[in-house]
Amino acid sequence: MSDKTYKALLVEETQDKTYVRKLTDLPIDSLPAGDVLVKVQYSSLNYKDALSATGNKGVTRQYPHTPGIDAAGVVEESSNPKFTPGEDVIVTSYDLGMNTSGGFGQYIRVPADWVVKRPANLSLRESMVYGTAGFTAALSVNRLVDYGITPDKGEVLVSGATGGVGSIAVSILSKIGYTVAAVNGVVDETDYLKEIGATTVISIEEASDTSSRPMLKTRWAGCVDTVGGVILSTSIRSTAPWGAVTSCGNVASPDLPLTVFPFILRGVTLMGIDSQNCPMPLRQKTWDRLATEWKIPWLDKITSETSLADLNDRIEIMLKGKHKGRTIVRLW
Ligand SMILES: NC(=O)c1ccc[n+]([C@@H]2O[C@H](COP(=O)([O-])OP(=O)(O)OC[C@H]3O[C@@H](n4cnc5c(N)ncnc54)[C@H](OP(=O)(O)O)[C@@H]3O)[C@@H](O)[C@H]2O)c1
Repeated sequence: MSDKTYKALLVEETQDKTYVRKLTDLPIDSLPAGDVLVKVQYSSLNYKDALSATGNKGVTRQYPHTPGIDAAGVVEESSNPKFTPGEDVIVTSYDLGMNTSGGFGQYIRVPADWVVKRPANLSLRESMVYGTAGFTAALSVNRLVDYGITPDKGEVLVSGATGGVGSIAVSILSKIGYTVAAVNGVVDETDYLKEIGATTVISIEEASDTSSRPMLKTRWAGCVDTVGGVILSTSIRSTAPWGAVTSCGNVASPDLPLTVFPFILRGVTLMGIDSQNCPMPLRQKTWDRLATEWKIPWLDKITSETSLADLNDRIEIMLKGKHKGRTIVRLW
């Protein structure tokens, strides 16, 4: 037993079922059992964290809880010989920050199976600029590349483009030679999107066809969708024959108003992206790729940094759909 404490952004449920967030000192001994104790240096803000921070029971069942689905830090203790104290590691996905105390605390304790060794050429800070959002963007791009959507096939559309997943998808695609169109609308960020590699920026209205037409004029070789709903439906209906569309998010809507015709008359493929349960070999390969051939040279342009004490304000901005790029959280 130790009386050592750490700081965390703790979310508590009140008697009238509202949720309050407080910077709190917690005992390290209160962390769940696990093989690896990590002193967290950086975390990052993802949409799922904003949901967990507001009492969304689909993400977090029980409160009080420390959100933060991403953490990068230094191993302090390990009962698993794969990891040694002093080693830099990245922990994302699985149950971190959902029902396991997460990266919005200065310490986490997790199973060794969740832990990835930091690749050379990627600092702990940079790994959190990517975080789950960047990892998901990379998985999405990977699916398009593996499927054979090469840059010469035409433009690739990215929705929710100023967001975390979207900004990194735009950046990676542009870095590896694709022509990228970006959907942007909540706040006009055309200049930002062009700076990070978009060639064309289209409005949410232009990207949303609410007619019941089963197929639309073809425009995209592939799409990375992060928002769902009518925008995803419009993307699928506008994708060229044998093109592919990835779906990872639902900020606009979980619904998908669609017929089967784009699939059976144009051979369009819809690919689901689930970063949480990505198998470890692909996980490690994807992190290695983010550290090497897919490393974005303009990471600073998409990054803003906050402290644990100021994180609350960023969560509110994200909940309003006005979050831009990636917010990383400095823990110390
Ligand atoms: N499946 C997975 O493994 C996985 C992993 C990570 C994230 N996700 C999901 O991916 C989605 C995006 O996450 P994120 O971290 O990138 O979120 P984010 O940083 O909040 O970005 C979301 C972006 O979506 C756009 N947007 C917001 N409200 C919209 C609306 N009503 N209609 C159309 N566009 C809207 C905005 O961009 P513009 O202003 O540019 O339009 C916003 O910046 C979330 O649903 C998240 O849960 C899934």
